[in-house]
Amino acid sequence: MNQDIADARKAPDGVKRIEWADRDMPTLAQVREKFARSRPLRGLRMSACLHVTAETANLVRTLKAGGADIVLCASNPLSTQDDVAAALVKEYGIPVFAQHGVDNKGYYRHIESALAHKPNITMDDGADLVTAIITKHKELRDQVVGSMEETTTGVIRLRAMERDGVLPFPVIAVNDADTKHLFDNRYGTGQSTLDGIIRATGKLLAGQVFVVAGYGWCGRGLAARARGHGAKVIITEVDPVKALEAAMDGFQVMPMAEAARLGDFFCTVTGNARIIRAEHVRRMKDGAIIANSGHFDVEIDLAAIRKLASKTTARVRGADMTRYVVGKKSVYVLADGRLVNLGCAEGHPPSVMDMSFATQSLASEWCVKMRGKLSNTVHTPPKDIDRTVATLKLRSMGIRIDSLTPEQKKYLSSWEAGT
Ligand code: ADE
Repeated sequence: MNQDIADARKAPDGVKRIEWADRDMPTLAQVREKFARSRPLRGLRMSACLHVTAETANLVRTLKAGGADIVLCASNPLSTQDDVAAALVKEYGIPVFAQHGVDNKGYYRHIESALAHKPNITMDDGADLVTAIITKHKELRDQVVGSMEETTTGVIRLRAMERDGVLPFPVIAVNDADTKHLFDNRYGTGQSTLDGIIRATGKLLAGQVFVVAGYGWCGRGLAARARGHGAKVIITEVDPVKALEAAMDGFQVMPMAEAARLGDFFCTVTGNARIIRAEHVRRMKDGAIIANSGHFDVEIDLAAIRKLASKTTARVRGADMTRYVVGKKSVYVLADGRLVNLGCAEGHPPSVMDMSFATQSLASEWCVKMRGKLSNTVHTPPKDIDRTVATLKLRSMGIRIDSLTPEQKKYLSSWEAGT
Protein backbone atom coordinates (compact mmCIF):
# COMPACT_ATOMS: atom_id res chain seq x y z
CA MET A 1 0.00 0.00 0.00
CA ASN A 2 1.28 3.47 -0.89
CA GLN A 3 1.60 5.40 2.39
CA ASP A 4 3.87 7.65 4.45
CA ILE A 5 3.62 7.23 8.22
CA ALA A 6 6.17 7.63 11.02
CA ASP A 7 6.20 4.17 12.60
CA ALA A 8 4.00 1.19 11.72
CA ARG A 9 4.90 -0.45 15.06
CA LYS A 10 2.68 2.07 16.85
CA ALA A 11 -0.47 0.49 15.33
CA PRO A 12 -1.59 -1.42 18.48
CA ASP A 13 -1.58 1.81 20.53
CA GLY A 14 -3.50 3.53 17.75
CA VAL A 15 -6.17 0.84 17.75
CA LYS A 16 -6.71 1.34 21.50
CA ARG A 17 -7.01 5.08 21.02
CA ILE A 18 -9.46 4.72 18.11
CA GLU A 19 -11.61 2.23 20.02
CA TRP A 20 -11.66 4.51 23.09
CA ALA A 21 -12.86 7.43 20.95
CA ASP A 22 -15.43 5.20 19.25
CA ARG A 23 -17.14 4.58 22.61
CA ASP A 24 -18.11 8.28 22.62
CA MET A 25 -19.12 8.43 18.96
CA PRO A 26 -22.47 6.58 18.92
CA THR A 27 -24.05 8.80 16.28
CA LEU A 28 -21.25 8.15 13.82
CA ALA A 29 -21.41 4.43 14.66
CA GLN A 30 -25.08 4.36 13.69
CA VAL A 31 -24.31 6.12 10.42
CA ARG A 32 -21.52 3.58 9.85
CA GLU A 33 -23.94 0.67 10.31
CA LYS A 34 -26.39 2.28 7.89
CA PHE A 35 -23.58 2.94 5.39
CA ALA A 36 -22.41 -0.69 5.60
CA ARG A 37 -25.90 -1.76 4.49
CA SER A 38 -26.65 0.91 1.85
CA ARG A 39 -23.09 1.58 0.53
CA PRO A 40 -23.88 5.14 -0.71
CA LEU A 41 -20.24 5.87 -1.65
CA ARG A 42 -19.65 2.62 -3.54
CA GLY A 43 -17.32 2.94 -6.52
CA LEU A 44 -16.08 6.42 -5.57
CA ARG A 45 -12.49 7.41 -4.84
CA MET A 46 -12.17 9.81 -1.94
CA SER A 47 -9.24 11.93 -0.68
CA ALA A 48 -9.54 13.46 2.78
CA CYS A 49 -7.25 16.13 4.26
CA LEU A 50 -8.12 16.26 7.97
CA HIS A 51 -6.45 16.29 11.38
CA VAL A 52 -5.20 12.70 11.73
CA THR A 53 -6.73 11.90 15.12
CA ALA A 54 -8.63 8.98 16.63
CA GLU A 55 -11.90 10.79 15.90
CA THR A 56 -10.97 11.22 12.25
CA ALA A 57 -10.04 7.54 12.11
CA ASN A 58 -13.63 6.69 13.02
CA LEU A 59 -14.87 9.02 10.30
CA VAL A 60 -12.73 7.44 7.58
CA ARG A 61 -13.79 3.96 8.80
CA THR A 62 -17.38 5.13 8.27
CA LEU A 63 -16.71 6.44 4.76
CA LYS A 64 -14.93 3.19 3.89
CA ALA A 65 -17.90 1.21 5.26
CA GLY A 66 -20.04 3.30 2.90
CA GLY A 67 -18.03 1.95 -0.03
CA ALA A 68 -15.53 4.79 -0.57
CA ASP A 69 -12.02 3.92 -1.70
CA ILE A 70 -10.45 6.46 0.67
CA VAL A 71 -6.99 7.87 1.44
CA LEU A 72 -6.14 10.37 4.18
CA CYS A 73 -3.53 13.09 4.55
CA ALA A 74 -3.00 15.60 7.37
CA SER A 75 -4.49 19.09 7.45
CA ASN A 76 -1.91 20.23 10.01
CA PRO A 77 1.56 18.81 10.72
CA LEU A 78 1.25 19.18 14.50
CA SER A 79 -2.07 17.43 15.01
CA THR A 80 -1.12 14.05 13.55
CA GLN A 81 -1.30 11.20 16.06
CA ASP A 82 1.32 8.80 14.70
CA ASP A 83 -0.18 5.78 16.45
CA VAL A 84 -3.55 6.48 14.81
CA ALA A 85 -1.93 6.86 11.39
CA ALA A 86 -0.18 3.50 11.89
CA ALA A 87 -3.41 1.79 13.00
CA LEU A 88 -5.33 3.11 10.00
CA VAL A 89 -2.73 1.67 7.64
CA LYS A 90 -2.05 -1.63 9.42
CA GLU A 91 -5.39 -2.55 10.97
CA TYR A 92 -8.02 -0.77 8.91
CA GLY A 93 -6.40 -0.91 5.44
CA ILE A 94 -6.64 2.84 4.83
CA PRO A 95 -3.63 4.57 3.19
CA VAL A 96 -2.39 7.55 5.22
CA PHE A 97 0.13 10.27 4.33
CA ALA A 98 0.89 12.00 7.62
CA GLN A 99 3.72 12.24 10.11
CA HIS A 100 3.65 14.32 13.27
CA GLY A 101 5.88 17.40 12.98
CA VAL A 102 6.61 17.02 9.26
CA ASP A 103 8.05 20.17 7.66
CA ASN A 104 6.25 22.35 5.13
CA LYS A 105 7.69 20.49 2.16
CA GLY A 106 6.59 17.14 3.60
CA TYR A 107 3.13 18.55 4.35
CA TYR A 108 2.58 19.55 0.71
CA ARG A 109 4.12 16.29 -0.52
CA HIS A 110 1.43 14.46 1.47
CA ILE A 111 -1.29 16.57 -0.16
CA GLU A 112 0.14 15.65 -3.57
CA SER A 113 0.08 11.95 -2.57
CA ALA A 114 -3.58 12.22 -1.54
CA LEU A 115 -4.45 13.83 -4.88
CA ALA A 116 -2.52 11.15 -6.79
CA HIS A 117 -5.46 8.94 -5.71
CA LYS A 118 -7.49 10.88 -8.34
CA PRO A 119 -10.51 11.54 -6.10
CA ASN A 120 -14.17 11.79 -7.08
CA ILE A 121 -14.92 13.35 -3.68
CA THR A 122 -12.63 15.45 -1.51
CA MET A 123 -12.96 16.33 2.14
CA ASP A 124 -11.01 19.26 3.56
CA ASP A 125 -10.34 20.94 6.88
CA GLY A 126 -9.08 24.30 5.61
CA ALA A 127 -9.63 23.93 1.82
CA ASP A 128 -6.08 22.81 0.96
CA LEU A 129 -7.15 19.99 -1.39
CA VAL A 130 -9.58 22.21 -3.31
CA THR A 131 -6.91 24.93 -3.55
CA ALA A 132 -4.36 22.44 -4.89
CA ILE A 133 -6.86 21.15 -7.49
CA ILE A 134 -7.66 24.68 -8.68
CA THR A 135 -4.08 25.89 -8.82
CA LYS A 136 -2.05 22.80 -9.74
CA HIS A 137 -4.26 19.87 -10.71
CA LYS A 138 -6.76 21.18 -13.21
CA GLU A 139 -6.82 17.69 -14.78
CA LEU A 140 -8.78 16.44 -11.71
CA ARG A 141 -11.53 19.05 -11.84
CA ASP A 142 -14.02 17.28 -14.08
CA GLN A 143 -14.03 14.00 -12.20
CA VAL A 144 -14.78 15.57 -8.78
CA VAL A 145 -18.46 15.23 -7.83
CA GLY A 146 -18.08 17.59 -4.88
CA SER A 147 -16.07 18.51 -1.82
CA MET A 148 -16.90 18.69 1.90
CA GLU A 149 -15.43 21.44 4.08
CA GLU A 150 -15.07 21.06 7.85
CA THR A 151 -14.03 24.45 9.17
CA THR A 152 -14.94 28.17 9.23
CA THR A 153 -11.63 29.28 7.70
CA GLY A 154 -12.03 26.79 4.86
CA VAL A 155 -15.56 28.04 4.16
CA ILE A 156 -14.30 31.65 4.06
CA ARG A 157 -11.63 30.62 1.53
CA LEU A 158 -14.15 28.67 -0.55
CA ARG A 159 -16.62 31.57 -0.63
CA ALA A 160 -13.79 33.76 -1.93
CA MET A 161 -13.24 31.15 -4.70
CA GLU A 162 -16.98 31.19 -5.45
CA ARG A 163 -16.92 35.00 -5.65
CA ASP A 164 -13.98 34.87 -8.07
CA GLY A 165 -15.81 32.26 -10.18
CA VAL A 166 -13.05 29.63 -9.88
CA LEU A 167 -14.87 26.84 -8.03
CA PRO A 168 -14.90 23.92 -10.47
CA PHE A 169 -17.39 21.73 -8.54
CA PRO A 170 -19.96 22.07 -5.72
CA VAL A 171 -18.70 22.42 -2.17
CA ILE A 172 -20.70 21.44 0.90
CA ALA A 173 -19.95 23.73 3.86
CA VAL A 174 -20.35 21.12 6.58
CA ASN A 175 -19.16 23.75 9.08
CA ASP A 176 -22.35 25.71 8.43
CA ALA A 177 -24.64 22.89 9.57
CA ASP A 178 -26.07 23.62 13.03
CA THR A 179 -24.99 20.19 14.26
CA LYS A 180 -21.42 21.21 13.44
CA HIS A 181 -20.67 24.80 14.42
CA LEU A 182 -23.08 25.15 17.35
CA PHE A 183 -21.38 22.26 19.13
CA ASP A 184 -17.88 21.55 17.71
CA ASN A 185 -16.86 25.21 17.34
CA ARG A 186 -18.40 26.25 20.64
CA TYR A 187 -18.05 23.37 23.12
CA GLY A 188 -15.24 21.54 21.31
CA THR A 189 -12.99 24.57 20.86
CA GLY A 190 -13.95 25.88 24.29
CA GLN A 191 -12.74 22.77 26.09
CA SER A 192 -9.84 21.68 23.88
CA THR A 193 -8.27 25.15 23.76
CA LEU A 194 -8.20 25.43 27.52
CA ASP A 195 -6.96 21.83 27.64
CA GLY A 196 -3.99 22.78 25.40
CA ILE A 197 -3.16 25.94 27.37
CA ILE A 198 -3.38 24.14 30.71
CA ARG A 199 -1.38 21.08 29.58
CA ALA A 200 1.41 23.31 28.22
CA THR A 201 1.61 25.84 31.05
CA GLY A 202 0.21 24.02 34.09
CA LYS A 203 -1.21 27.37 35.20
CA LEU A 204 -4.32 28.16 37.23
CA LEU A 205 -6.85 30.29 35.36
CA ALA A 206 -8.88 31.41 38.38
CA GLY A 207 -8.46 35.13 39.00
CA GLN A 208 -6.38 35.64 35.86
CA VAL A 209 -7.22 37.96 32.95
CA PHE A 210 -7.93 35.92 29.83
CA VAL A 211 -8.19 37.82 26.54
CA VAL A 212 -10.16 36.15 23.73
CA ALA A 213 -9.76 37.74 20.28
CA GLY A 214 -12.87 37.02 18.22
CA TYR A 215 -16.45 36.30 19.38
CA GLY A 216 -17.61 33.85 16.72
CA TRP A 217 -18.76 30.39 17.82
CA CYS A 218 -15.22 29.38 18.84
CA GLY A 219 -14.65 32.62 20.77
CA ARG A 220 -18.02 32.30 22.52
CA GLY A 221 -17.18 28.77 23.63
CA LEU A 222 -13.69 29.67 24.78
CA ALA A 223 -14.85 32.76 26.69
CA ALA A 224 -17.60 30.78 28.46
CA ARG A 225 -15.20 28.03 29.49
CA ALA A 226 -12.48 30.46 30.64
CA ARG A 227 -15.10 32.25 32.77
CA GLY A 228 -16.11 28.84 34.13
CA HIS A 229 -12.53 28.44 35.39
CA GLY A 230 -12.81 31.73 37.25
CA ALA A 231 -10.86 33.88 34.80
CA LYS A 232 -11.76 37.52 34.16
CA VAL A 233 -12.47 37.43 30.43
CA ILE A 234 -11.91 40.29 27.97
CA ILE A 235 -13.20 40.07 24.38
CA THR A 236 -11.72 41.94 21.41
CA GLU A 237 -13.84 42.17 18.25
CA VAL A 238 -14.20 44.11 14.98
CA ASP A 239 -17.87 43.22 14.39
CA PRO A 240 -20.18 45.60 16.33
CA VAL A 241 -22.98 43.02 16.65
CA LYS A 242 -20.68 40.36 18.06
CA ALA A 243 -19.03 42.92 20.33
CA LEU A 244 -22.45 43.94 21.66
CA GLU A 245 -23.37 40.31 22.22
CA ALA A 246 -20.12 39.79 24.16
CA ALA A 247 -20.86 42.87 26.28
CA MET A 248 -24.39 41.66 27.06
CA ASP A 249 -23.04 38.19 27.82
CA GLY A 250 -21.24 40.00 30.63
CA PHE A 251 -17.68 40.20 29.24
CA GLN A 252 -15.47 43.27 29.11
CA VAL A 253 -14.99 44.40 25.50
CA MET A 254 -12.13 46.63 24.34
CA PRO A 255 -9.54 47.00 21.56
CA MET A 256 -6.50 44.71 21.63
CA ALA A 257 -4.27 47.75 22.20
CA GLU A 258 -5.92 48.17 25.63
CA ALA A 259 -6.38 44.49 26.43
CA ALA A 260 -2.66 43.91 25.73
CA ARG A 261 -1.70 45.69 28.98
CA LEU A 262 -4.18 43.71 31.08
CA GLY A 263 -4.04 40.09 29.90
CA ASP A 264 -2.31 37.16 31.57
CA PHE A 265 -3.46 34.84 28.76
CA PHE A 266 -4.22 35.74 25.14
CA CYS A 267 -5.90 33.44 22.65
CA THR A 268 -6.85 34.35 19.07
CA VAL A 269 -9.85 32.68 17.40
CA THR A 270 -10.69 35.13 14.63
CA GLY A 271 -9.85 33.34 11.35
CA ASN A 272 -8.01 36.51 10.34
CA ALA A 273 -4.33 37.48 10.14
CA ARG A 274 -1.97 39.49 12.39
CA ILE A 275 -4.32 39.96 15.35
CA ILE A 276 -1.48 40.07 17.91
CA ARG A 277 1.32 42.26 16.59
CA ALA A 278 4.58 43.77 17.84
CA GLU A 279 2.85 46.86 19.23
CA HIS A 280 0.66 44.62 21.42
CA VAL A 281 3.50 42.40 22.61
CA ARG A 282 5.51 45.46 23.68
CA ARG A 283 2.64 46.40 26.03
CA MET A 284 2.12 42.95 27.54
CA LYS A 285 2.87 42.03 31.14
CA ASP A 286 5.88 39.94 32.06
CA GLY A 287 4.89 36.27 31.77
CA ALA A 288 2.01 36.74 29.32
CA ILE A 289 0.93 33.53 27.59
CA ILE A 290 0.05 33.85 23.89
CA ALA A 291 -1.85 31.17 21.94
CA ASN A 292 -3.96 30.74 18.84
CA SER A 293 -6.91 28.42 18.24
CA GLY A 294 -7.84 29.68 14.76
CA HIS A 295 -7.20 27.35 11.84
CA PHE A 296 -4.06 28.91 10.34
CA ASP A 297 -0.92 30.10 12.11
CA VAL A 298 -1.35 33.68 10.88
CA GLU A 299 -3.19 35.23 13.82
CA ILE A 300 -0.07 35.87 15.92
CA ASP A 301 2.66 37.83 14.13
CA LEU A 302 5.41 35.44 15.17
CA ALA A 303 7.96 36.95 12.80
CA ALA A 304 7.54 40.30 14.58
CA ILE A 305 7.86 38.68 18.03
CA ARG A 306 11.04 36.90 16.92
CA LYS A 307 12.43 40.22 15.72
CA LEU A 308 11.61 41.91 19.04
CA ALA A 309 13.21 39.15 21.12
CA SER A 310 16.74 39.42 22.48
CA LYS A 311 16.65 35.78 23.58
CA THR A 312 14.54 32.73 22.73
CA THR A 313 14.15 29.48 24.66
CA ALA A 314 12.23 26.59 23.09
CA ARG A 315 10.37 23.78 24.85
CA VAL A 316 9.91 25.46 28.21
CA ARG A 317 8.63 22.80 30.71
CA GLY A 318 9.21 20.26 27.94
CA ALA A 319 6.04 21.58 26.27
CA ASP A 320 5.49 23.21 22.92
CA MET A 321 6.04 26.60 24.57
CA THR A 322 8.68 29.15 23.57
CA ARG A 323 9.94 31.97 25.76
CA TYR A 324 10.75 35.27 24.06
CA VAL A 325 12.65 37.89 26.07
CA VAL A 326 11.37 41.30 24.97
CA GLY A 327 13.13 44.16 26.80
CA LYS A 328 12.93 43.34 30.51
CA LYS A 329 9.94 41.00 30.11
CA SER A 330 9.30 37.49 28.86
CA VAL A 331 6.29 36.38 26.84
CA TYR A 332 5.51 32.73 26.10
CA VAL A 333 4.07 31.54 22.78
CA LEU A 334 2.35 28.14 22.59
CA ALA A 335 2.63 25.74 19.61
CA ASP A 336 4.43 28.41 17.52
CA GLY A 337 1.08 30.11 17.02
CA ARG A 338 -0.49 27.02 15.44
CA LEU A 339 -3.76 25.55 16.71
CA VAL A 340 -3.08 25.21 20.44
CA ASN A 341 -5.87 22.68 20.98
CA LEU A 342 -4.31 20.23 18.55
CA GLY A 343 -0.64 21.22 19.06
CA CYS A 344 -0.63 21.11 22.87
CA ALA A 345 -3.62 18.78 23.43
CA GLU A 346 -5.58 16.26 21.33
CA GLY A 347 -8.20 18.46 19.67
CA HIS A 348 -11.88 18.25 20.47
CA PRO A 349 -13.18 15.31 22.50
CA PRO A 350 -14.82 12.45 20.59
CA SER A 351 -18.37 13.08 21.83
CA VAL A 352 -18.50 16.42 19.99
CA MET A 353 -16.59 15.19 16.90
CA ASP A 354 -19.30 12.49 16.85
CA MET A 355 -21.78 15.07 15.59
CA SER A 356 -19.38 16.85 13.23
CA PHE A 357 -18.35 13.61 11.59
CA ALA A 358 -21.86 12.14 11.42
CA THR A 359 -22.77 15.39 9.62
CA GLN A 360 -19.71 15.02 7.34
CA SER A 361 -20.73 11.45 6.44
CA LEU A 362 -24.37 12.31 5.72
CA ALA A 363 -23.30 15.40 3.75
CA SER A 364 -21.07 13.18 1.58
CA GLU A 365 -24.01 10.84 0.95
CA TRP A 366 -26.21 13.83 0.05
CA CYS A 367 -23.57 15.29 -2.27
CA VAL A 368 -23.39 12.02 -4.20
CA LYS A 369 -27.19 11.75 -4.31
CA MET A 370 -27.34 15.29 -5.75
CA ARG A 371 -24.65 14.55 -8.37
CA GLY A 372 -25.10 16.82 -11.41
CA LYS A 373 -27.84 18.87 -9.70
CA LEU A 374 -25.78 21.27 -7.57
CA SER A 375 -24.22 24.47 -8.93
CA ASN A 376 -20.47 25.02 -8.57
CA THR A 377 -20.96 27.14 -5.46
CA VAL A 378 -20.84 26.69 -1.67
CA HIS A 379 -23.90 24.84 -0.27
CA THR A 380 -25.14 24.49 3.30
CA PRO A 381 -26.17 20.90 4.11
CA PRO A 382 -29.96 20.41 4.16
CA LYS A 383 -31.79 20.83 7.49
CA ASP A 384 -32.83 17.16 7.36
CA ILE A 385 -29.23 16.22 8.10
CA ASP A 386 -29.21 18.45 11.20
CA ARG A 387 -32.45 16.86 12.38
CA THR A 388 -31.19 13.33 11.81
CA VAL A 389 -27.87 13.92 13.59
CA ALA A 390 -29.49 15.72 16.54
CA THR A 391 -32.16 13.02 16.88
CA LEU A 392 -29.59 10.22 16.89
CA LYS A 393 -27.36 12.10 19.35
CA LEU A 394 -30.24 12.81 21.73
CA ARG A 395 -31.25 9.15 21.59
CA SER A 396 -27.71 8.07 22.43
CA MET A 397 -27.81 10.44 25.43
CA GLY A 398 -31.10 8.94 26.63
CA ILE A 399 -32.89 12.27 26.18
CA ARG A 400 -36.50 12.28 24.97
CA ILE A 401 -38.29 15.38 23.70
CA ASP A 402 -41.88 16.39 22.94
CA SER A 403 -43.44 16.40 19.48
CA LEU A 404 -46.00 18.82 18.05
CA THR A 405 -49.66 17.95 18.62
CA PRO A 406 -51.90 18.11 15.49
CA GLU A 407 -53.42 21.28 16.95
CA GLN A 408 -49.96 22.89 17.35
CA LYS A 409 -49.01 21.93 13.77
CA LYS A 410 -52.19 23.58 12.53
CA TYR A 411 -51.50 26.70 14.61
CA LEU A 412 -47.99 27.03 13.18
CA SER A 413 -49.20 26.71 9.60
CA SER A 414 -52.06 29.21 9.92
CA TRP A 415 -52.09 33.00 10.09
CA GLU A 416 -55.70 33.69 11.13
CA ALA A 417 -55.31 33.22 14.88
CA GLY A 418 -54.00 36.38 16.61
CA THR A 419 -54.60 37.72 20.09
N1 ADE B 1 -10.68 19.35 14.90
C1 ADE B 1 -10.70 19.69 16.20
N2 ADE B 1 -10.58 18.62 16.99
C2 ADE B 1 -10.47 17.55 16.18
C3 ADE B 1 -10.32 16.16 16.42
N3 ADE B 1 -10.27 15.65 17.65
N4 ADE B 1 -10.23 15.37 15.35
C4 ADE B 1 -10.30 15.89 14.10
N5 ADE B 1 -10.44 17.17 13.82
C5 ADE B 1 -10.53 18.01 14.86
